[in-house]
Amino acid sequence: MSLVEKIDLQRVPQHIAIIMDGNGRWAKERNLDRSQGHRKGLDVVHEITNDAADLGVKYLTLYAFSTENWNRPQAEVDALMALVVFGIERETPGMIENGVRLSVIGDTSRMPADVQKRLQKCIEDTAGGTRITLNLALSYSARWEITHAAQQLACEVAQGKLKPEEIDDTIFASRLTTAQLPDPDLLIRTGGELRISNFLLWQLSYAELYFTSEYWPDFNKESLCQAIIDYQSRERRYGKTSEQVTTNEKA
Ligand code: FPP
Repeated sequence: MSLVEKIDLQRVPQHIAIIMDGNGRWAKERNLDRSQGHRKGLDVVHEITNDAADLGVKYLTLYAFSTENWNRPQAEVDALMALVVFGIERETPGMIENGVRLSVIGDTSRMPADVQKRLQKCIEDTAGGTRITLNLALSYSARWEITHAAQQLACEVAQGKLKPEEIDDTIFASRLTTAQLPDPDLLIRTGGELRISNFLLWQLSYAELYFTSEYWPDFNKESLCQAIIDYQSRERRYGKTSEQVTTNEKA
């Protein structure tokens, strides 16, 4: 039985978020420059987006560049920005053809103007895609996002558009960059570290977490299937008892 056959296609996670870690170590082990690890990582983004779409995943959020990544050596930051442009240029026609819609979350105003322009163009060109939404987190951190939402809500209260007591978790979530997306069902982190690294802290509240030591450039369809199979073996209780969950499933 292949790994794909072990997946219950009726219970595929609707939204998968991935922390793509290990590009640098993958390159170092091969005596390559770190940028070559990122370059290979981009090819894996292409493959995994299509594999996820084939399995029925509707949203894929990838942590491509964190707020903290701005502190990397300038040469690496430049290489990553150039890679985003290269990736967008290379992938846009295929995305349109395959129904892949691009969205972006993060403080993109910090990115070079030409990168912003190309991202915006790709978002517009792929807006009709309905097979899967590829959501890139760029210049993103959850603390930035939550602080930003709090500032926005404070402004609305100050302007009399909102009362403080009206702020509940639905209203708060609607001011986050992910307002148009369902929360991730599954978070995958490659590269062996066991942490969340300031990624989607609000949205991951009830996500299942899956960590693998595999480096992102080595991640493939089998790895994705393995993560989904593991996800499907878990019972999502959302704070309820196991009995309550089982009864609801039968109802
Ligand atoms: C983490 O590995 C990876 C990144 C910081 C960048 C990932 C970006 C891409 C794969 C390109 C995305 C672009 C598009 C257009 C989708 P690391 O450098 O932290 O690895 P290490 O922990 O081994 O040093």
